[in-house]
Amino acid sequence: MFENKTILITGGAGFIGSNLAFYFQERFPKAKVVVFDKFQDGTRLDSGNLSSLGHFKNLVGFRGDVICGDINDPKDLELLDEYRFDYIFHQAAISDTTVQNQTIVLQTNLNAFKDLLRLAKRHGAKMIYASSGSVYGKLPGPHRVGVEEPINVYGFSKLAMDHLAMSQEDVTAVGLRYFNVYGPREYFKGKTASMILQFGLQILKGERPRLFEGSDRIKRDFIYVDDVIQANIKAAAAKRSGVYNVGTGKARSFQDIVDILCKELGIHPEYEYIPNPFVKQYQFFTQADIDSTREELGFEPQYSLEDGIRADIPYIKKIFEEEL
Ligand SMILES: NC(=O)c1ccc[n+]([C@@H]2O[C@H](COP(=O)([O-])OP(=O)(O)OC[C@H]3O[C@@H](n4cnc5c(N)ncnc54)[C@H](O)[C@@H]3O)[C@@H](O)[C@H]2O)c1
Repeated sequence: MFENKTILITGGAGFIGSNLAFYFQERFPKAKVVVFDKFQDGTRLDSGNLSSLGHFKNLVGFRGDVICGDINDPKDLELLDEYRFDYIFHQAAISDTTVQNQTIVLQTNLNAFKDLLRLAKRHGAKMIYASSGSVYGKLPGPHRVGVEEPINVYGFSKLAMDHLAMSQEDVTAVGLRYFNVYGPREYFKGKTASMILQFGLQILKGERPRLFEGSDRIKRDFIYVDDVIQANIKAAAAKRSGVYNVGTGKARSFQDIVDILCKELGIHPEYEYIPNPFVKQYQFFTQADIDSTREELGFEPQYSLEDGIRADIPYIKKIFEEEL
């Protein structure tokens, strides 16, 4: 399906985008893959985290074209004019859910998406883009497409992207609402990397894993990155536009994560429980309803939390050895 096709991955130096880039390189050697990303320039957002989290190390071994550019800058987007894209996998975003600066989040996530939809239209490309489970905010799960209530500007920007995409004519756009994604190539997200990586590194460092109080009751739908890649590939075959949840359909606790990590690593430290400073802004329960993702895209998650963490262990160990 992708052989001899030209594929744009925005945010391709980030966690999910770089996994997509390698997926295409390995499975479809005749596809032309173009990564467009701002990379890191050291500037920080009001959350204290870097404003863009892409990192060259995520792309070491990638042989496709790499373009350093900002999706907010029309001049940078002109660098894409020399290609004719068949598929656009749009992952670039401010992915940090704790940013307060509404202007920068909406410019980057929403306005720039409008420009990329125009580009898709011009190229006759199919648009597969990253939405987010954060559109559901604190609503009780399981979460279904159509009932949303974001509690931060990040979730609001993703919901606005969905509305924009579904109002387009002449472009097929598929929005994928990823839940909590974890897996290889997420280290450079720093504090915004999944708790699976963060707890794993705490345990390897010989520290006591620090959990929020009541962590056995704080549950999320954690999905391994390979399943997110699968969803993107299936979405690329969709005949119609649509918005779909991408999770496992199961809610698991933060306590489960640490228990599984300790078992897999063979290290059994005492846990430390700390008060949750984010209570008001916090999603205590997420669970994707994936019925329509199954039925309409043919998506079927392959990794339970146990399987995903097991698959992730070599990466967590590698980061511990090489980066810390
Ligand atoms: N990881 C998750 O759990 C999760 C959950 C829901 C949704 N998402 C969404 O999935 C997508 C990918 O997320 P990720 O986890 O890989 O995050 P990430 O931060 O690693 O990837 C985003 C990439 O976009 C790039 N970028 C940011 N601003 C840019 C700009 N102005 N111009 C060009 N590039 C820019 C960054 O450098 C980074 O490489 C994002 O849209 C995110 O909102 C992720």
